[in-house]
Amino acid sequence: MFKIYILTETDFILSNFDVAKASCGSVTWKTPSNIALVKYWGKQEPQLPENTSISFTLNNCCTITTLEYKLKSEVQNSESEFNFEVFFEGKKKDDFKPKIQKFFQRIAQYVPFLKDFDFVIKSENSFPHSSGIASSASGMSALALCLMSLEKKLNPTITNKYFNEKASFLARLGSGSACRSIEGELIVWGKHPEIEASSDLYGVKFPYKVHKNFNNYQDTILLVDEGVKQVSSTVGHNLMYNHPFAKQRFKQANNHISKIKEVLQNGDLKEFIAIVESEALSLHAMMMTSSPYFILMKPNTLKIIHKIWEFREATGSSICFTLDAGANVHVLFPEHEKEKANKFIVNELIQFCQEKHYICDSVGKGAFQLTMDN
Ligand code: PMV
Repeated sequence: MFKIYILTETDFILSNFDVAKASCGSVTWKTPSNIALVKYWGKQEPQLPENTSISFTLNNCCTITTLEYKLKSEVQNSESEFNFEVFFEGKKKDDFKPKIQKFFQRIAQYVPFLKDFDFVIKSENSFPHSSGIASSASGMSALALCLMSLEKKLNPTITNKYFNEKASFLARLGSGSACRSIEGELIVWGKHPEIEASSDLYGVKFPYKVHKNFNNYQDTILLVDEGVKQVSSTVGHNLMYNHPFAKQRFKQANNHISKIKEVLQNGDLKEFIAIVESEALSLHAMMMTSSPYFILMKPNTLKIIHKIWEFREATGSSICFTLDAGANVHVLFPEHEKEKANKFIVNELIQFCQEKHYICDSVGKGAFQLTMDN
């Protein structure tokens, strides 16, 4: 019988490589954001999820990152420090450095060549800066993929499967949900007894045939509150330690995974909506019942949710919503409802957005490499 091999941490340690294979050059990746249908909220060190999550990879909300690398001279190398500069949308960004420094420290044992190079990291987002859309997933996955391209130069024997799994593994150590931003279209992260080959260490493609109802599923993101997140996800995840409802929440999420596994195969949109909306509200319920507690929804978030419910009731549409850890609303609907849903969104929902800003997106196929030269 065909045996599925699930990788462990030690499989990701690069031991056989030759730095002389890449003296200088650059690589560019374009990587997408993702929206969770069943949410990850709560983790253990080192960035291991308390429950399984599943997400749609997006198509238009992306980060483009170029990694320039130059082998250090032997004298420089003896200092043995990470050396990198960061630019975001053309401007030097020293305030991004501590997060990347921490990321490099976390992944150094798996990519031991990090201290052999000087790096320049240049990033930009396809979505407006300060739109309130989390860029950590696409940003960290982009950087992880750039590093994997460099690893492949140093060790060309690695397979595409390993390349993607290790990119996801590294991205996870930067930002948990980033591990779901390597491939498309549906990615599962977190070991689950009913999802074959699932792992806490990296994301895997949903391994079953998906019903056509979910082909090219649409996600219109309504920007209710643009700006920096009120509560960082690090703080949010930490509040799940000692949370009175944490255990129940992790159980609920894992049950939702069992259910959504069936729904994604049988195309039951009613059940899909029930799971996805319950997940969004459960995530926010966790925030409202933590200590300290907080509310990330804004009055306009609730107005949009009620409008969606009224519209669904009146028209029989399969439109629904989900939320991230913020006030913005992701409006999800099947492709065949695109025209009807867009009209409804423009006529009735964008009045609740900041400056009527919104982004039309849909499910995407994952990251791709734009350039690699030396
Ligand atoms: O990847 P993090 O640590 O920023 O956590 C993201 C958590 C949510 O976006 C709220 C849910 C999820 O599964 O993406």
